[in-house]
Amino acid sequence: MSDIIECRSLGFSYGDGNSKTSVLKNLDIRVKPNEKIAIIGQSGCGKSTLLNLLAGLDMPSEGEVLIDNVNISSLKERQRTELRAKHLGFVFQFHHLLNDFSAIYNTALPLIINHLDKNEALTKAENILKKVGLENRINHKPSELSGGERQRVAIARAMITEPSCLLADEPTGNLDEQNAKEVLDLIIELNSNQNTALLIVTHDLSIANRMSRQLDLTDGCLKEK
Ligand SMILES: Nc1ncnc2c1ncn2[C@@H]1O[C@H](COP(=O)(O)OP(=O)(O)O)[C@@H](O)[C@H]1O
Ligand SMILES: [Mg+2]
Repeated sequence: MSDIIECRSLGFSYGDGNSKTSVLKNLDIRVKPNEKIAIIGQSGCGKSTLLNLLAGLDMPSEGEVLIDNVNISSLKERQRTELRAKHLGFVFQFHHLLNDFSAIYNTALPLIINHLDKNEALTKAENILKKVGLENRINHKPSELSGGERQRVAIARAMITEPSCLLADEPTGNLDEQNAKEVLDLIIELNSNQNTALLIVTHDLSIANRMSRQLDLTDGCLKEK
């Protein structure tokens, strides 16, 4: 089967001239269907930068990123957004939910944006919120939810489009130990049920050890552990 995400000789620098900071150098990664990969490294080593590049949210300074075999640099912004929406789901350290909307609307949003019938989208959102254990919270707004519950809504929103790969940037970084474990269990369970690949960025080795591959990011370079 072909790779969901691939990067070749990927390099990235912030700024230019005297203020140029090279963060990533000559990286190669291939994410295959169903694979569970952890990218580990110290704070500031470039994990979020790498994830944003693999997600097509930023453009490489050198090399290329392919999503579903399409070089993202060859696309216009709008096509890139569509490619991303079709194949990828995201969970960040901070939930990035819309504060004025209830859990069910936040979850249904990616489908509504994709022009799915609103009632159908809401029914799907309700079903996935049940799967993440929030059947009694569907009409709550983010401010009425705990940190762990907000991350569950963020996971439901990411998985509702049935992405081929979930990209997660320190998804449990803001949670206490118990909630962090529960949220990670949930991500792993949903990913197995939906046959989704998982690329998780973390500085926490106990999370990394639950993935099938661990890649260590140091000095801008990746090494298989
Ligand atoms: N917008 C930016 N402009 C300049 N430097 C940045 C910017 N964002 C991040 N950096 C720098 O790039 C490096 C990698 O950052 P980041 O990818 O956020 O690391 P991590 O996620 O591993 O903590 C850090 O040294 C950070 O200071
Ligand atoms: Mg980061």
